[in-house]
Amino acid sequence: MLLRFMGYVVGFGFVGVLLISLFINLGDYFSNPPEPTAEEVFAHHEPKELHLASDGPFGRFDRQQLQRGFQVYKEVCAACHGLNLVAFRNLADLGYSEAEVKAIADQWQIEVPSINDETGETATRKAIPSDRFPDPYANETAARAANNNALPPDLSLIAKARSGGAAYTYSLLTGYEQQPAELVRRFPTAKTPANLHYNPYFANLNIAMPPPLTGEGQVTYADGTRGSVDQMAKDVSAFLVWAAEPTLERRHAAGVAVVLFLLIATVLGYFAYRNIWAEAKRKVRVTGPLDPVNQAKSNQAKRDEGIAG
Ligand code: HEC
Repeated sequence: MLLRFMGYVVGFGFVGVLLISLFINLGDYFSNPPEPTAEEVFAHHEPKELHLASDGPFGRFDRQQLQRGFQVYKEVCAACHGLNLVAFRNLADLGYSEAEVKAIADQWQIEVPSINDETGETATRKAIPSDRFPDPYANETAARAANNNALPPDLSLIAKARSGGAAYTYSLLTGYEQQPAELVRRFPTAKTPANLHYNPYFANLNIAMPPPLTGEGQVTYADGTRGSVDQMAKDVSAFLVWAAEPTLERRHAAGVAVVLFLLIATVLGYFAYRNIWAEAKRKVRVTGPLDPVNQAKSNQAKRDEGIAG
């Protein structure tokens, strides 16, 4: 008895102390709220709007746009970013012929590392269609050394790896601007350091990547489309959606087929249900609900009728 009483005292004591500290801290939080940070005030948490042909459950790739996006990757981004999970021969998906794929691999600026069979020395050779896109740097150390200690991520899955997907890439590429004077006034310590670049779509506002798309005509499109910065950013973002999920169209087609199948199966199931229960329901309609009291009454009524008749 005493032991149980002691238990209650200790238990309530603990809870009491916790509640007191909670109220003190809440009071402190509200009377003295934490200062917002420069990122909270100035970063754009939502990307710009971007509509691609591959959006939505029926989306399909716009192959012309993917080819343009690939051209941007090849001529601009590939200098710093790998595309490790994509092989040259996958480009056939974009509508390139076998000979074109071969030529693209053969003329790729960066050669593929290889080992000399005879001497065992490391060497490089020209890419062939079955090779994946080679990394621009030998390893992470070399990549960081060339980029002010920042690491350009492999872009194979970037469209999946960032919230916002293609819209994020597009916003990032077109989002560079002068750091607002108001930011520096309110947050003097948040001034963009030398070697970094102000971009409100990047979570911490300052990105190590220099603006890669700088001017109209940086890429001369093979299909004659005008190469504005906006167009190049859109196209390369669309291309990176394909790189991250080349089977997107098959997934969409399978999804539509499955939903249609389920709809038809539901209708069939409903009629099968009606058919199976039809007999039982007719009986219930004739004899009334299967309830023992009612049943007894109706039996009695039938007997009475019999006597009367
Ligand atoms: C001069 C080298 C260079 C070029 C060219 C370049 N990038 Fe980058 N990129 C970087 C570096 C360095 C980073 C890492 C930035 C950081 O962590 O601050 C980066 C980061 C990124 C990121 C990731 C941002 C994030 O949220 O982490 C994306 C997406 C990206 N680059 C896309 C591209 C695209 C698309 C192109 C071509 C149009 C391109 N980059 C061209 C150097 C480059």
